[in-house]
Amino acid sequence: MALSFFSKSKKAVQNRFRDDYATKMRLKYDPYYHAMESQQGTTVRLDGREMIMLSSNDYLGLSFHPKVIEAGRAALLKWGTSTTGARISNGSRAFHIELEEKLAAFLGREACHVHAAGYLSCLSSVAAFAQKGDIIFADKNIHSCLWEGIQLSRATVERFSHNSPDDFREVAAAAASSDAPKLLVIEGVYSMEGHIARLPELTEIAEEHGCFTVLDDAHGFGVLGRNGRGTVDHFGLNDKVDVICGSLSKSLASTGGFVAASREAIEYLRTSSKQTVFSAALSPSQAACAQASLELMQNEREHHERLWANTKKYRAILKNLGLDTWGSETPATPIVLGSKERVYPFWKALLEKGVFTVMSIAPAVPIGKDLIRTAISAMHTDEQLDKIADAMAYAVKKL
Ligand SMILES: Cc1ncc(COP(=O)(O)O)c(C=O)c1O
Repeated sequence: MALSFFSKSKKAVQNRFRDDYATKMRLKYDPYYHAMESQQGTTVRLDGREMIMLSSNDYLGLSFHPKVIEAGRAALLKWGTSTTGARISNGSRAFHIELEEKLAAFLGREACHVHAAGYLSCLSSVAAFAQKGDIIFADKNIHSCLWEGIQLSRATVERFSHNSPDDFREVAAAAASSDAPKLLVIEGVYSMEGHIARLPELTEIAEEHGCFTVLDDAHGFGVLGRNGRGTVDHFGLNDKVDVICGSLSKSLASTGGFVAASREAIEYLRTSSKQTVFSAALSPSQAACAQASLELMQNEREHHERLWANTKKYRAILKNLGLDTWGSETPATPIVLGSKERVYPFWKALLEKGVFTVMSIAPAVPIGKDLIRTAISAMHTDEQLDKIADAMAYAVKKL
């Protein structure tokens, strides 16, 4: 009797993944989870063919920089492969503190905490500071990790139209009579759209309503601001944003994430955030790679300059072909095609011509905004940009 009850309930769970439409479609068309056979900078090998990587987040192109590689190697030799524990217990090391102090100083913050993933950092930046009874105002297009942080906090969420100060003003006004603590949750640069947050207007409204502001700058860090200090620095609004979180896996060419804020906010996060307390620390080699990249951002300006020169050139290529880039202002550049029926052949045509990109279709993007997500790196060469131009022209003909 007990056995049959068990097998019945197990089948109910198994049917979820056996019958899942999205998984069936993914396996049929095979657009995701491609395992590259090798990589050298922006050149990857896939199914025995050389391809140009046009969708990584290695904005500054530091993932193959000799100083970053050497820093990772030296850290492995000095500290081993892993601290095998959470920071709160046995996992804290001097190199974590050093990286945190450098990031905090770079961002003009009192303190910083690093996690083993940007996802954890950004999720905990919301989940740790918001709680049930609070009201969170959130841009409709924020990243999944911020939505998860909102859900975990159990606060009430009020969404406003993407990057729209007018809509935020209306939504905030509707909640103005409530005494509940309020937060604003936004990104600095939106990862899919490449839009820069309208920070001056958004923070002004946030201030009027006494909002505690959390900004995820995963795609603004390294890209905008003085020496890549990010979106807040780009607008000179350091005192208007309470928490800056982000990822070490993009401009810093590593993996991991950070939360930068006042000392008391960071100490509170270290006590109360479950993602911080119960997850193993950032590994020695990844911390060292991030720190080496952070130093290069400040000492070798050419990566930043090259990133923007490449972005300008790439944007011109797409514009000449009449492609819709959703008004992207940054190296994260979508090519909006509007439906999966148009996205798939375009993506296949680029692949055929040796350019690797990523498809993003609804519900991952708003309906009607199905797109190819591309991102430029400082490491793309002129020759690669010419090849990308030819491949784009070929793909346009396939539409
Ligand atoms: C806006 C944003 N926040 C956070 C993350 C999570 O960072 P990570 O990939 O380092 O976990 C990402 C990654 O895609 C992102 O785009």
